[in-house]
Amino acid sequence: MVLLVLLQLLWLWPMATASTARTGCQEKCGNITVPYPFGIGDANCYRKLYDVTCNHSFIPPKLFLGKGKVEVLNISSEGQLRINSTIGFTCYDRSGDKISEHLSWIDLKAKPYTFSDTYNRFTALGCDTIATITGSKGCDFKTGCSMLCNSIDNVINGSCSGIGCCQTSIPKGFKKFDLELGSNNNHTDVVDFNWCSYGFLVDHEWYNFSGADLSLFSTRHDTQVPLVLNWAIEGFGCGNASTSDLNYACGNNSECINSPNGLGYLCRCSPGYQGNPYLKDGCQGRD
Ligand SMILES: *[C@@H]1O[C@H](CO)[C@@H](O)[C@H](O)[C@H]1NC(C)=O
Ligand SMILES: *[C@@H]1O[C@H](CO)[C@@H](O)[C@H](O)[C@H]1NC(C)=O
Ligand SMILES: *[C@@H]1O[C@H](CO)[C@@H](O)[C@H](O)[C@H]1NC(C)=O
Ligand SMILES: *[C@@H]1O[C@H](CO)[C@@H](O)[C@H](O)[C@H]1NC(C)=O
Ligand SMILES: *[C@@H]1O[C@H](CO)[C@@H](O)[C@H](O)[C@H]1NC(C)=O
Ligand SMILES: *[C@@H]1O[C@H](CO)[C@@H](O)[C@H](O)[C@H]1NC(C)=O
Ligand SMILES: *[C@@H]1O[C@H](CO)[C@@H](O)[C@H](O)[C@H]1NC(C)=O
Ligand SMILES: *[C@@H]1O[C@H](CO)[C@@H](O)[C@H](O)[C@H]1NC(C)=O
Ligand SMILES: *[C@@H]1O[C@H](CO)[C@@H](O)[C@H](O)[C@H]1NC(C)=O
Repeated sequence: MVLLVLLQLLWLWPMATASTARTGCQEKCGNITVPYPFGIGDANCYRKLYDVTCNHSFIPPKLFLGKGKVEVLNISSEGQLRINSTIGFTCYDRSGDKISEHLSWIDLKAKPYTFSDTYNRFTALGCDTIATITGSKGCDFKTGCSMLCNSIDNVINGSCSGIGCCQTSIPKGFKKFDLELGSNNNHTDVVDFNWCSYGFLVDHEWYNFSGADLSLFSTRHDTQVPLVLNWAIEGFGCGNASTSDLNYACGNNSECINSPNGLGYLCRCSPGYQGNPYLKDGCQGRD
């Protein structure tokens, strides 16, 4: 009986303490889990470039990339990181004068992230709108759309196909984007139901267009929307990482996989093991 309890304890012990952060490091910020190579605080808690900051001035506390202002909503060990990204907008009054404008941009230069091409779409909203996104640093491109619609009645909820809402795919591998918003008539013909043009990169699984967004986007969704980044251990591929990366990221019982953004590698536990593959002994045998 005693032996049985002891065996059970021994068996449960590593499970109960299995942490996804380094030993002695903070694993959670609010309800967001921070798995190594990400880490908070002491330099020993994160791999170089993967530091995040937990700011307790907010209730619940908020997590930020580096020491910056980009808010992190979720980190997945499988190579994605979701951030809260500010939308771009240009708004006009009845006489066609610009009354407010915010043209957002994000620069991830020298950081191990790119904008995910699989999750994100460039999305523009407006009925007198010319929206352009210019990507650079890793992959140069320019894309966008131009829309004119003259009545809210033509807009179809849930359908982002060019009437009041348009979406385009983006390529993989770029680290910076800039946004431009223009219009043909300063929204003067549509100001009754649409006085702003909007442009943003967004997780397309999250965003579902509604005609109400043409007048109330920020009331309905805030001025920040979720955007997905791909992260990777950059500079090496699986062909040379284990021999050339002096700081090879994959721990025991794990294997290297080339990252989907083409800029580096990721690690995953070998078949039959589970845990955090970026910790030395993070991958533990299942039983
Ligand atoms: C964290 O909590 C907020 C509400 O406090 C919730 O909306 C969000 O989904 C939670 N995130 C996770 C990863 O559980
Ligand atoms: C936390 O956020 C507050 C409010 O934005 C800011 O004033 C403060 O500098 C931040 N603290 C840290 C440690 O970043
Ligand atoms: C955060 O990421 C984890 C791991 O990928 C996932 O299981 C969870 O559903 C995500 N939470 C949110 C709020 O996106
Ligand atoms: C994104 O940021 C805005 C503004 O700071 C905040 O109100 C909103 O709750 C954040 N979104 C999430 C999902 O945390
Ligand atoms: C679209 O959705 C909004 C609110 O979400 C609603 O007020 C409007 O009537 C809907 N339009 C159509 C054509 O269903
Ligand atoms: C998007 O919203 C429309 C109504 O506004 C709804 O019919 C549709 O099911 C929604 N789609 C998703 C994927 O949530
Ligand atoms: C639109 O606005 C711009 C700048 O606010 C102004 O220079 C231009 O004359 C306006 N055009 C029309 C058609 O109102
Ligand atoms: C390792 O391989 C990557 C491509 O996968 C290449 O860009 C890099 O230069 C190589 N590094 C070394 C040290 O061989
Ligand atoms: C892998 O495990 C072996 C024995 O369990 C240990 O000697 C070695 O140091 C470990 N290697 C790493 C990279 O943790």
